[in-house]
Amino acid sequence: MRVRHAEPADLGRVIALAAEVVGAERASTFVRSHAERHHLLVAEEDGEIAGVLAFRTDWFQCTLVGLVAVDANLRRRGVARALYRMVEEISPSPRLFSSTEETNAVSIKMHTALGFAPSGYIDNLPQGYRELLFYKRLRPSSAG
Ligand SMILES: CC(C)(COP(=O)(O)OP(=O)(O)OC[C@H]1O[C@@H](n2cnc3c(N)ncnc32)[C@H](O)[C@@H]1OP(=O)(O)O)[C@@H](O)C(=O)NCCC(=O)NCCS
Repeated sequence: MRVRHAEPADLGRVIALAAEVVGAERASTFVRSHAERHHLLVAEEDGEIAGVLAFRTDWFQCTLVGLVAVDANLRRRGVARALYRMVEEISPSPRLFSSTEETNAVSIKMHTALGFAPSGYIDNLPQGYRELLFYKRLRPSSAG
């Protein structure tokens, strides 16, 4: 498996994967805006896009993962783990945040397995469910 920055030719497939998480209406704008800022990573296996991770670096001076989605036929094979490994490597901030809806038990288990700790929540979002925040310290505290 290879994790790399998304390229223009990947976007159709990435938008389809993202639609499962952010909905078909938002997926195209969401994916393209992250691609323009080079904040979109893909995991490629046998020439196919197996998963995607979108992040931003302008969130309270920290890195925030806004989306991770893996092809339903390729889950539980370390794709998300590999995507998070790369965002950890390239994050300009040593403070990495990620989030998920309180109803997403699989995602909550994944965050725990990847070494994230709970870091609060957001209420009053249009999704109707509480969004749980997770935090992972990437480098020693002297790094900022
Ligand atoms: C959540 C999701 C991204 C995980 O992707 P994945 O590639 O299957 O995850 P990985 O294989 O890298 O799993 C990493 C660890 O997370 C945990 N985990 C992942 N899926 C799990 C499941 N179904 N049940 C329990 N634990 C799970 C495991 O501890 C796993 O490590 P292990 O397999 O060595 O035990 C994937 O299920 C998905 O795309 N779901 C739909 C979209 C979504 O919910 N995204 C998150 C919110 S934005």
